[in-house]
Amino acid sequence: MQSVNSSNDIVFFGALGDLSQRKLIPALYQLERAGQLATESRIIGVARKSYSDDEFKAHCHEQLREFVAQDELIEDVVTKLLKRFSYHRIDFSVSDGFGSLADQLNQFPDRGRVYYFATAASQYGVISEQLDEFKLITDNSRVVLEKPIGHSLTSSEEVNDVVGKHFKEQQIYRIDHYLGKETVQNLLMLRFANPVFSTIWNNQHISHIEISVTEKVGIEGRWGYFDDAGQLRDMVQNHLFQLLMLTAMPTPISLRSDDIRDAKVSVLKSLRPFDPYNADKLYIRGQYQAGTVDGKSVPGYLEEDGANTDSLTESFVALKLHIDNEQWKDVPFFLRTGKRLKSKSTRIVVHFKPQHALFGEQENQLVIQLQPDEGITLQIYSKENGLTSTQQLRRDNLQLNILDQNNDRIADAYERLLLEVCRGNQALFVRRDEVEFAWRWCDQLLAFWQYNDTQPEGYAAGSWGPDSATNLMTRHGKHWYGDNDA
Ligand code: BG6
Repeated sequence: MQSVNSSNDIVFFGALGDLSQRKLIPALYQLERAGQLATESRIIGVARKSYSDDEFKAHCHEQLREFVAQDELIEDVVTKLLKRFSYHRIDFSVSDGFGSLADQLNQFPDRGRVYYFATAASQYGVISEQLDEFKLITDNSRVVLEKPIGHSLTSSEEVNDVVGKHFKEQQIYRIDHYLGKETVQNLLMLRFANPVFSTIWNNQHISHIEISVTEKVGIEGRWGYFDDAGQLRDMVQNHLFQLLMLTAMPTPISLRSDDIRDAKVSVLKSLRPFDPYNADKLYIRGQYQAGTVDGKSVPGYLEEDGANTDSLTESFVALKLHIDNEQWKDVPFFLRTGKRLKSKSTRIVVHFKPQHALFGEQENQLVIQLQPDEGITLQIYSKENGLTSTQQLRRDNLQLNILDQNNDRIADAYERLLLEVCRGNQALFVRRDEVEFAWRWCDQLLAFWQYNDTQPEGYAAGSWGPDSATNLMTRHGKHWYGDNDA
């Protein structure tokens, strides 16, 4: 692993796109502010537009004012950051333009290079080819790929093959921004640094696990992309399956990147195969209809700008899954995610089995809240205070509030991920086999939905999703954590 003090040349392809401007440049700013960018590191923007270095810097400056919180924006830090910036106009489909990039990079041939592909996946091949042709891929080079990696197993194999022709797997950093979230990283510590949890993390002690990622937003003007993808491809294949892997993985043999990723992928290898006979009961898809979110009326999915009014694309998915190994035998994993729901929240809830009946059938719950209000809560029982009864139980929370603990802001996922790429640590990035096993399972469900001509179930915007998703739980005598409180 490279030291954080080693200088890198970081090249952003698609430097004027939404991701670069909203997330990546602000993340670099925060790294600069935190003193985490090595003194000599350079940041090189590449896009199609004709810009001089100064115009590019001025543009980024403006975007920083928009996307960095006002009280965090320090002009001296901005100046220091912008000094590192330069720009190349390159049309990826023709090789001219790469020459001037090569001249700049070759000033420091031994320096670490990070090529960040913040472009459509269809461009990954041509950019990789050109970099190779100009001999810009050194042993010290890494490439960062943004999701979505493909649209199916076959198309993801194509993307991975084309990049894999030019970069070795050890040089490829596939981003899933959920892996950069503070609490997601904390999952490993929580599970494996605390014997109190590591010894009971199995089917003897756990009855079921929920992984719930609910969003208030709709498709935010991304009709073209979203309608082609849907919530299964957009959220489940990547973010929810990553959370599933981290929650259910066995103890890795070490903290080395590949040992962690071996343990993670073993979960997907043991995932119970897609069940076409019970698909309607186990796998729910929904589409939002007009409703009210935060007191405001919002249109239904089919009434969004640019909508194809016949679309069957799902904006909600709930799944009941099983992992067929000894550790998780008979423990259902309930996953759900949807747009235009009642509130935004990402959480994993571990429900522990009641162990004996002295005080009834209470269960303890461990709630790992990823956003908002990042923290970990263990619900436990104790005696109700006072003289009225000797046996009255009350439920309390033991709470670890991540923000209070650090007394600081929580770093955005992209800050952590960019830092880890610069350090050459792949643990928080997705290996090719993880992407492919996830597609293998999701492809079957997508094909089932497509060929069985079933309609997604409607749900009102501002609700908790389709009734069938609630029933998925109530059939087991359970309910989604928190739904009844809000
Ligand atoms: C993105 C999806 O990957 O994740 C979006 O494309 C989704 O549709 C977003 O809204 C959610 O991310 P977060 O970090 O806000 O939970």
